[in-house]
Amino acid sequence: MKVLFTGIQPTGDIHLGNYFGAIANWVRLQHEYTTYISVVDLHALSIPYEPADMPGRVADLALTLYACGIQVDKAVLFVQSEVPAHSELTWIFNTITPLGELERMTQFKDKREQFRASVNVALLDYPVLQAADILLYKGEVVPVGEDQVQHVEFTREVARHFNSRYGDTFPECQALLTATPRVLGLDGDAKMSKSKGNTIGVLETAEQIWAKVGPAKTDPARVRRTDPGTPEKCTIWSYHLLVTPEAERADIHKGCTTAGIGCIDCKKRFQANLMKVLDPIRERYAELAGAGRKGIMERLDANGEKCRAVAATTMAEVREKMGLKRE
Ligand code: TYM
Repeated sequence: MKVLFTGIQPTGDIHLGNYFGAIANWVRLQHEYTTYISVVDLHALSIPYEPADMPGRVADLALTLYACGIQVDKAVLFVQSEVPAHSELTWIFNTITPLGELERMTQFKDKREQFRASVNVALLDYPVLQAADILLYKGEVVPVGEDQVQHVEFTREVARHFNSRYGDTFPECQALLTATPRVLGLDGDAKMSKSKGNTIGVLETAEQIWAKVGPAKTDPARVRRTDPGTPEKCTIWSYHLLVTPEAERADIHKGCTTAGIGCIDCKKRFQANLMKVLDPIRERYAELAGAGRKGIMERLDANGEKCRAVAATTMAEVREKMGLKRE
């Protein structure tokens, strides 16, 4: 089986962007690939954070991923910092990465703006650590949302640089997108994102979600209930594409364009369909976070060990090829 590698930062609750942009694919693909999924806590250190919160955030993310449908016997879910070779390979890749390639990264440019007061080297080096993540396991397939495609392409570059300098070692990986590679923010922003506070979390209840969806902006041209709308200009319509069956969607589309239904009706129907996906996730999470918690934490320990062994094999090959193996 080909190797699949992907990662997610422990920087807040999993939201619909993560779920429909990436995780839904992981759940599906874990049956077809040797699957590694990393809770990338080292990446999360590149922005300001509270050390006391980190262990809880890591555990919670792991529990939520299992609740979303990642299976203990199908995927190797592990914590990045428990495998020190990620940091070691990052340093090695630093030595073959032109600075200009990192300065061009869209995410770096965004984060540099956002954290203007504290731009650290890790923000710039972030994609190199990501390349190390993937290549340590010789990952070939990387299922991500659209915002991470540039980093996957960068990883191919790193593999190419390394292979041409030291001999064929790493595969050139491919990004794999879902049908909805970019989920819009609730505020209509181009991207649902933890840092923008425009998210719907997968563990939120119907009431919590309605408190956000009820007041959310729709097609700005639809001022009165009697004005016909353009679904393609409406964030809520883009969400129907995630959860609403096709026949019902056609009905809603017609209702909107003919002013047959109002925005509140449309939002209620979205909420009802969304809860069909989220209710089972929330229920599973409650089970796992209660009785299942100890077992999951032990599984993370065991997976860390498994990954250290895989990483050691790759690092031995890297050291030898780079002349770091002593006589
Ligand atoms: P992160 O933690 O920001 O997001 C996890 C996954 O969710 C996707 N995603 C979205 N997809 C569609 N629409 C959205 N609004 C949306 N928001 C988030 C992301 O694309 C991602 O797939 N750098 C990565 C983590 C990482 C990684 C890796 C990924 C570290 N090492 C190695 C793949 C391979 C990140 O910050 O993802």
